[in-house]
Amino acid sequence: MESETPLLDELEKGRWPSFVKEIKRAAKKNKAALDLLRVEELSYKDKITHWKHGGIVGVTGYGGGVIGRYCDKPEEYPEVAAFHTFRVNHPAGWFYKTEALRKICDIWEKYGSGMTNFHGSTGDIILLGAKTENLQPCFNELTEAGFDLGGSGSGLRTISGCVGPARCEWATIDTLDITYDLTMEFQDEIHRPRWPYKFKIKISGCPNDCVAAIARADFTIIGTWRDSIRIDQEAVREYVKNGFDIETVVRKCPTEAISWDEKNKVLNFVPEDCTRCMHCINKMPKAIRPGTEGGATILVGGKAPILKGAYLSWVIVPFMKMEPPYSEVKSLLRKIWDWWDEHGRTRERLAELIERLSFARFLKDMGLPVQPQMVFRPRSNPYVFFRR
Ligand code: HEM
Ligand code: HEM
Ligand code: SF4
Ligand code: SF4
Repeated sequence: MESETPLLDELEKGRWPSFVKEIKRAAKKNKAALDLLRVEELSYKDKITHWKHGGIVGVTGYGGGVIGRYCDKPEEYPEVAAFHTFRVNHPAGWFYKTEALRKICDIWEKYGSGMTNFHGSTGDIILLGAKTENLQPCFNELTEAGFDLGGSGSGLRTISGCVGPARCEWATIDTLDITYDLTMEFQDEIHRPRWPYKFKIKISGCPNDCVAAIARADFTIIGTWRDSIRIDQEAVREYVKNGFDIETVVRKCPTEAISWDEKNKVLNFVPEDCTRCMHCINKMPKAIRPGTEGGATILVGGKAPILKGAYLSWVIVPFMKMEPPYSEVKSLLRKIWDWWDEHGRTRERLAELIERLSFARFLKDMGLPVQPQMVFRPRSNPYVFFRR
């Protein structure tokens, strides 16, 4: 039999994994997946999209969590006439029992297309393609299974953090607890969007920044320490004795805070020069550890292009203690939101507003003292990679 999708079939031919293959697999079980294939084929043929943006859809009591999508050819492709995305709030640290995963899949096969890209860049569980009439019953069953919807539209997005202390020895803050606590505190901001645009909060347990909070969040919390790194000189000597090239670590310290005394076999360290970049720690985990006085650096302004370009975040508070109930960080967030809400134009992200009104004005209105770490947009483009 001749293929219905000759153009899409081309995309299956390479050695790479193919989304076409996956959708075809889903299409064996689900009619929406089949219509999705057909409409995508048509888009390739016509060289335009057949999806319409917009249209508010949702479930009772929520303004966010479902992203509405309609096909512009509903008669020809009835199964994808409405193809809405569910955003389901993930558990902090993304830990699931297999039982919970099965439950989600069962619900989704019952009410949706059966297709998912599981965790998107928000961290949410992403369920792709439900009809309008299935939204409420699907949400009801997800709720019964213990899940809630995440954020979408012009509101607070689902808060995300790295696995932190659950699985990682470097965490200097409890990213899981902070993620959970802020999610509970800001339920209204997540479920009922009402701001100029989206707002993302991401939390990394240490400067390795595994959730890439610095590039992807309007408000970034990165674990750090106030005292100095801990060096076990005996363990350093052990590395060197085993043929480890200590100079590669010393040379790559961005601030020349460490140096190797070959004669006395000692790693010298100037604490006040260390910027806590994690490089030496990552290279010699048995010998060097973060300090013991944990807290976080707070940054703002990371975002992808839309109005203006892509921005990396910049520091607004070099060090903040991070202990429950996290009052300091919550009141700073509320202050920032009030300011953004009052001065921001439609679709203007926080970074763009700060750029328009000036960083100095932002700091003044927030009551934050100016400090040397606050370099306004130290590197503005996350897509440029430096090489020596
Ligand atoms: C040319 C085509 C497309 C473009 C340019 C595009 C662009 C984007 C952008 C800019 C975002 C926001 C990313 C962020 O979180 O910052 C996004 C998110 C998303 N898109 Fe697309 N998109 C395209 C096609 C699609 C298709 C075909 C689907 C599904 C069938 C899709 C589903 C989604 C979903 C579910 C998200 C949310 C992911 C998350 O929360 O992490 N997109 N897209
Ligand atoms: C040429 C085609 C497309 C373009 C240029 C485009 C562009 C974008 C942009 C710029 C955003 C970010 C909006 C924001 O949150 O600020 C976005 C979000 C999104 N797009 Fe598209 N898109 C395209 C096609 C599609 C298609 C075909 C789908 C699905 C059938 C899709 C699904 C989504 C979803 C689910 C989001 C996330 C919305 C949200 O986060 O609130 N997009 N898209
Ligand atoms: S950001 Fe740091 S604490 Fe979090 S997982 Fe990565 S290395 Fe571990
Ligand atoms: S953490 Fe970074 S800045 Fe500090 S001593 Fe190690 S390499 Fe240098």
